[in-house]
Amino acid sequence: MEIKKYFDESGRYIMNTYGRYPVVLRKGRGMKVWSADGKEYLDFVGGVAVNILGHCHPRVVVAIQKQAQRLIHVSNYYYIEPQIKLAKLLVEHSFADKVFFCNSGAEANEAAIKLARKYAKENINSGSFEIITAQSSFHGRTLAALTATGQEKLQKGFEPLMPGFSHVPFSNIEALRKAVTKNTCAILLEPIQGEGGVRLPDENYFKEVRELCDQQNLLLILDEVQTGMGRTGKLFAYEHFGIFPDIMTIAKGLGGGVPIGAMLATDKVASAFQPGNHASTFGGNPLVCAAAVATVETLLEDGFILDQCNRMGQYFIERLEKLQEEFPNLIREIRGKGLLLGMELKKEGAPVVKACLEKGVLINCTAGNVLRFIPPLIIQRKDIDQLMDVLHEIFLKVW
Ligand SMILES: Cc1ncc(COP(=O)(O)O)c(C=O)c1O
Repeated sequence: MEIKKYFDESGRYIMNTYGRYPVVLRKGRGMKVWSADGKEYLDFVGGVAVNILGHCHPRVVVAIQKQAQRLIHVSNYYYIEPQIKLAKLLVEHSFADKVFFCNSGAEANEAAIKLARKYAKENINSGSFEIITAQSSFHGRTLAALTATGQEKLQKGFEPLMPGFSHVPFSNIEALRKAVTKNTCAILLEPIQGEGGVRLPDENYFKEVRELCDQQNLLLILDEVQTGMGRTGKLFAYEHFGIFPDIMTIAKGLGGGVPIGAMLATDKVASAFQPGNHASTFGGNPLVCAAAVATVETLLEDGFILDQCNRMGQYFIERLEKLQEEFPNLIREIRGKGLLLGMELKKEGAPVVKACLEKGVLINCTAGNVLRFIPPLIIQRKDIDQLMDVLHEIFLKVW
């Protein structure tokens, strides 16, 4: 099909919810994707922090092919082999004892919110249902997750929002302490704010949050949808802080590209869910779980990919800082952990994203002026070097 026809038909048949770049992506391998008109791109977006093993990793492809021949979908009325295997893997490598599977990050957060409310009503006080979250946070687009999200611009037009959510500045323990009421049941936070502009907490923040939760009998829910699955150099970002949450949500990288989310909890908290309390038709189906098992096993195998993520993250930051030295009038700050990196500009980021696209590199901009780099964890130095050459050229020319 002629490329322009794709744009026309997309506009005609698909709801207008995304501002898209004029590229039709058709094929991917590792760090690279190719458009329908044959142009090659180096991908630092990775499906927005999803493709942790790169595009079409052979182990994930084979796992999907094999499972598709055996059994694609059955109901959760029955036991599902790859779902059990995946749950065991996640439990063995995290704080959690139990897993609930769903299909996306927003759904995982919905499940977490429901579990926290039910647990609190039954175990803390029957009137407790309020959840405190952070300003500039992002928890998804479904109604409760959107209400939890601390960004008014995303909520506008969808009022009335859900009752029971309040927002405080991120990484400010005093504000959090003050926001707790007798009806608070949980605190919901991203370990590092991704969509909000790659914002890291102060070093002791999460230790203090954990203490506050313990003192006040509150649940700590960590939204690791973006930070989980090795993105920050550890399997889960809470490992950096020396604390455990009570509930954690993951999605994005979990399935290596297939849509899957999960909500994990301790036995104590998970016991508030009984048959009939929560469900998902597709959640944890055989096909996506087989892909996720292959993804998680590959990620964990001898620690190689997590090492790579740490080493490349370090190198990436060094290169970005060099760029900052060269363009101090343009670049305000470099921040991030592992391969969740942000470069805050003193100007709008959109023109840089567009210029990168023209030069065959996919990057993303969040919070208006933060260039975000969330590539596959299998990235190599030469890929980072290529991006730096492109950014250097753009910064020289445009500014
Ligand atoms: C921290 C966080 N939570 C939740 C979500 C929502 O995930 P999904 O788009 O899979 O619903 C995202 C998506 O960007 C996210 O970054």
